Amino acid sequence: MTDRARIDELRQLIRHHDHRYYTLDAPEISDAAYDALARELEALEKKHPDLVTPDSPTQRVGGAPQSRFERVTHHQQMLSLANCFDDAELTEFDARVRKLLGVDRVDYVCEPKMDGLAIELVYEHGRFVQGSTRGDGIVGEDVTANLRTVRNLPLELQRGAPTRLEVRGEVFIKKKDFQRMNEALLARGEEPFVNPRNAAAGSLRQLDPRLTASRPLAFMAYEVGELLGLKKALETHRQKLELLAKWGLPINPRRDDAHGLDDVRAAYARLLADRHALPYEIDGLVVKVDSLDARERLGQVSRSPRWAIAYKFPPEEMETQVERIFASVGRTGALTPVAELKPVFVGGVTVSRATLHNEDELERKDLRVGDWVFVRRAGDVIPEIVAVITSRRTGHEKPFVFPTHCPVCQHAVAREPDGAVIRCTNRHCPARLAGRIRHFASRGAMDIEGLGEKLCEALVDTGLVRSFEQLYQLTVPQLAELERMGEKSAKNLVDAIAGSKKTTLRRFIYALGIPDVGETTAKTLADHFRSVPRLLDASVDELLAVRDVGPELAKSVRGHFEDPDARRTVEALLEAGVHVAPPESPAQGSFQGKTVVLTGTLASLSREEAKEAIERAGGKVSGSVSKKTSLVVAGEDSGSKLAKAKELGVAVIDEAAFLALLRKRPTSS
Ligand code: IVH
Repeated sequence: MTDRARIDELRQLIRHHDHRYYTLDAPEISDAAYDALARELEALEKKHPDLVTPDSPTQRVGGAPQSRFERVTHHQQMLSLANCFDDAELTEFDARVRKLLGVDRVDYVCEPKMDGLAIELVYEHGRFVQGSTRGDGIVGEDVTANLRTVRNLPLELQRGAPTRLEVRGEVFIKKKDFQRMNEALLARGEEPFVNPRNAAAGSLRQLDPRLTASRPLAFMAYEVGELLGLKKALETHRQKLELLAKWGLPINPRRDDAHGLDDVRAAYARLLADRHALPYEIDGLVVKVDSLDARERLGQVSRSPRWAIAYKFPPEEMETQVERIFASVGRTGALTPVAELKPVFVGGVTVSRATLHNEDELERKDLRVGDWVFVRRAGDVIPEIVAVITSRRTGHEKPFVFPTHCPVCQHAVAREPDGAVIRCTNRHCPARLAGRIRHFASRGAMDIEGLGEKLCEALVDTGLVRSFEQLYQLTVPQLAELERMGEKSAKNLVDAIAGSKKTTLRRFIYALGIPDVGETTAKTLADHFRSVPRLLDASVDELLAVRDVGPELAKSVRGHFEDPDARRTVEALLEAGVHVAPPESPAQGSFQGKTVVLTGTLASLSREEAKEAIERAGGKVSGSVSKKTSLVVAGEDSGSKLAKAKELGVAVIDEAAFLALLRKRPTSS
């Protein structure tokens, strides 16, 4: 394709997506994908300046105003921000600004880039008189009546307000409110929103303000347009924000002053780390020149000011296509629908699969093979399919028919009477066995490195392993025969298996895969019974006497050990040489009664080791920070948990202090 043809194509595509986004509030592609199109067009137009036309999407700011609302002409154009995506581009931005201003270092203000909808508010003599969307930057829509319903938007400013004030800011919905709102929509059988931004946009542009009022919209101010009748001229952006706050407008408390580029980099890293702990969604850092005089001198290029840039975060949502749907059989026999996706880079990793929890979810989302979907992966969370992009359907998509028979052993499946779970009815299904072995080998259990899902399946399929204890009889030549297994990895695996023989009671109990017994319960049981035989023979009453053990769990544990197969497995494991160390006496350690959260990477201990050390010293380890947390241990690259701890005022210590508390030398591991 020639550049000219591609330019035409890109313009058409961008116009189409602008319409979907701005006018219909129903985007078909992710922001990242849109940005990629826009950048490609920009680059091509740069290469061929003669092909730039006034109607090119690069020459305007955004979508055209909708006809259903009155039009409002902004007194000052509402610009949008140029984007940058990596450090090199940020460095370029700073270099350009410094060069234009003729200085060595620039003072910036760094703000979170709110992921909502840009609006303008007009106050006359301190009274809110008009509010509008950005529209195309010149003409927007009058949404005054709807904005009046936004709870934290002041209708009246505090004393000292100027004659006329145009405030620019973002209307958005907090993550928690978004969730609640979507649950309510679902409960009423209505379509949920894809993300908080679309929800905010959709809610603000309702023709009936009563509907808007029922939505949890919030507002945050970040810029000023026209400002008339102010006694003293403003010099900096910071002064501007402080003044807005003084007049009673909500501004973002999260803001970083940056003296030069390095400070901007640090602010970016901090914000990225705190991203998930913030109550609202953001998609980057806005870097703004602080001096208003400098801004004046820098001016603007067609669509955006030269004095600011949006340094975008890696996307957490991307679109991709479903290539296959199949039912995966887990260690309890439960069938879980899994979507195989065209690999996409999202949330910092390449995702090629997403689990749908059960058949109901599959049906609710109406997911079909061939569908385009939004995939989301935020932080360490498992990737999920947020929504199907139904507008991209061609008619060739195929619904997935849930199997009536186990895809692995062909036995019939049955839906549990009280739940959404569908299970294979064959207790000896090879998939169950493979799943149980995988669990047995997992990190919190026997911790056998290198024994992953595929290998477990191969061991079961080839008949090499029919029970846990047979793992301990595996030889290097046997393993080396398997597909994709060399001599070396076979040897490593045999060593890893042998190394797992020395274990602790809690790991051992967890490894057995007793229904409802997770890592925490395994530890509780280990601390209480302190030996394998005592747990094996514990009656329901004895189990009920254990702290945190309820009737369901007691029945489950008792039931498990009443099964002769389960008892034989335990015996066989012990005979195979598994050595189970009883828990150490709960020392009056330095962490007695404390709930500790670990975050980031420690140099001298693995997560597991740190956890065990804390527990030996009488403490409990929890996965998330709350008011009940006594202490957070922050290693390298601590992220949102650290931010949360700071927010809640929970004590934070570093690795050195942690080791000192454990009275452990940093060399021991
Ligand atoms: S300043 C010319 N500050 O990002 C500068 N914008 O394309 C005007 N946004 O339309 C915008 N957080 O919707 C600014 N702290 C912030 C922002 C922010 C989010 C949005 C706004 C704007 C878009 C930039």
